[in-house]
Amino acid sequence: MASCLLGICDGSGFLYEEETNTARDCPCRAQMIARNKARSLSAVIPERYRDVAFDRFPVTEIDPRIVSATRRFVDRLETNLDAGRGLWFMGPVGTGKTTLAMLVTKSALERGRSAARYSLPGLLSMIRKTFDTGSHNDLLDRLTAVDLLHIDDIGAEQTTPWVLEELYSIINARYEEQRSLVITTNILDRETLCQQITERTVSRLTEMCDELPLLGHDHRLDLRIA
Ligand SMILES: Nc1ncnc2c1ncn2[C@@H]1O[C@H](COP(=O)(O)OP(=O)(O)OP(=O)(O)O)[C@@H](O)[C@H]1O
Ligand SMILES: [Mg+2]
Ligand SMILES: [Zn+2]
Repeated sequence: MASCLLGICDGSGFLYEEETNTARDCPCRAQMIARNKARSLSAVIPERYRDVAFDRFPVTEIDPRIVSATRRFVDRLETNLDAGRGLWFMGPVGTGKTTLAMLVTKSALERGRSAARYSLPGLLSMIRKTFDTGSHNDLLDRLTAVDLLHIDDIGAEQTTPWVLEELYSIINARYEEQRSLVITTNILDRETLCQQITERTVSRLTEMCDELPLLGHDHRLDLRIA
């Protein structure tokens, strides 16, 4: 156990009163919680997206209707997470999908909820590794247990029967447990997406997530011109 940041308690964050057999918070506890929050933020949110906020570039440049819908979701985040409701950002390359999804994930962590974030290709390579160590079920349990699971770039992966089955089991596990998902896809057309990741997976995503289409051009190119 870490030692007390203020040198008051035994490091547990609680002070015990033996006479009354009660525990109360040590003043270090609030600091400890803030630290853990900062730590989980930096573990989950990559550097590029760490400072995302509704009032900052590039969110201020993104389609206001989509930003408002995202803000409404975040305003009622607790309720949405508890009900297993999620968001689905879809659109061409470089239109701000990951940026908005990160904003949601960051808000969840800031409110002390658990969240995990993966790109689908990264998640799949992690799953492949668990087969060597026999920890596949542990990983699936963890992916099902977090309050919010954010999966980026669904549909970008070369699909094989194995990939489709793994993706389906993750989505279906969260579907069954009514747990929230935030996803991004480059494919706008449902038909094409069904061909890419199967209809039964798309069907579940459609039920779990509100669809937020982002249109326009690749804004990474603006940065090059500027
Ligand atoms: N509407 C916008 N106006 C200006 N810049 C933007 C806008 N949307 C995104 N950007 C910038 O474009 C870059 C790409 O943003 P982001 O990573 O969110 O895109 P994406 O939609 O997830 O792209 P991809 O499909 O390639 O994953 C970032 O540098 C971001 O700051
Ligand atoms: Mg992206
Ligand atoms: Zn203490």
